[in-house]
Amino acid sequence: MTSYNKYDYVGKSIESILNQTFEDFELILMDDNSDDRTQKVIESYLQDDRIKYYRSDVTTIEERTRITRYAHLINKGIEMASGEYITYITDDNVHKPTRLEKMVNYLDQHPDANICYSASKVFFLDHDGGVIKEMTRAAKIVQWLAPCIIDHCSVMHRADILKIIKKYFSSYWDEDPHYYLRGDARFFWRLNHFWPFYPIDEVLDVNYITKKSLHTSVLEDKESSFATLLPQQKTCKGLRDHLKKLGRGR
Ligand code: TYD
Ligand code: MG
Repeated sequence: MTSYNKYDYVGKSIESILNQTFEDFELILMDDNSDDRTQKVIESYLQDDRIKYYRSDVTTIEERTRITRYAHLINKGIEMASGEYITYITDDNVHKPTRLEKMVNYLDQHPDANICYSASKVFFLDHDGGVIKEMTRAAKIVQWLAPCIIDHCSVMHRADILKIIKKYFSSYWDEDPHYYLRGDARFFWRLNHFWPFYPIDEVLDVNYITKKSLHTSVLEDKESSFATLLPQQKTCKGLRDHLKKLGRGR
């Protein structure tokens, strides 16, 4: 789990992991030096010995925009992980209680599948937490074009495939800030060079896009310091067109 300043959401995210029906997990909680009230919420869960906690020491906005922070934290977290399977959550996502159980069962029962994904519910919220819009991301097909179709918090993959990703691309997740808004799509682009994502046709996580989300702050406020410091962002289309050219899955 990556976390930054979502004091009103992060507790729900953490609880959604601690309440999983599948219990043999470690939660690697990577906080990007959040403000005090967020830290306070996180600290209230740290007595659970299934949580491994890391807090970065970044402070300035320049440091926060120089590299894709969550990709950087995930890369560190992967080095701390000892499990057979890896899955991701952000501090504004809630996993359904049976998510780990269902995804682990899927990979256990399909030795040829290296990656699985589920359907996902997305809620767009206003400043008061009211729902402006909602949508469901489906999981119906074996997906060779995952970028921008499948979400960050809807996948699970075998840990050992990361060796191949690192060898080929020299890191796990890409920290290049040109992909700050599409870090998950960029990682899935890497995965799709080698493997497809197998579907579990059920909503197993709920994602909240809030007014504090990176996407909202950068895309709705072009004057924000984050938006001005980030380089021109690469597009979904570029990633997808490149995969189409590679012709995987054909
Ligand atoms: P988030 O604001 O949820 O963006 P999105 O619009 O994609 O939902 O941020 C994504 C993740 O990145 C979230 O887990 C928090 C993390 N993050 C950091 O670790 N450091 C940072 O400086 C920022 C801005 C985000
Ligand atoms: Mg988010």
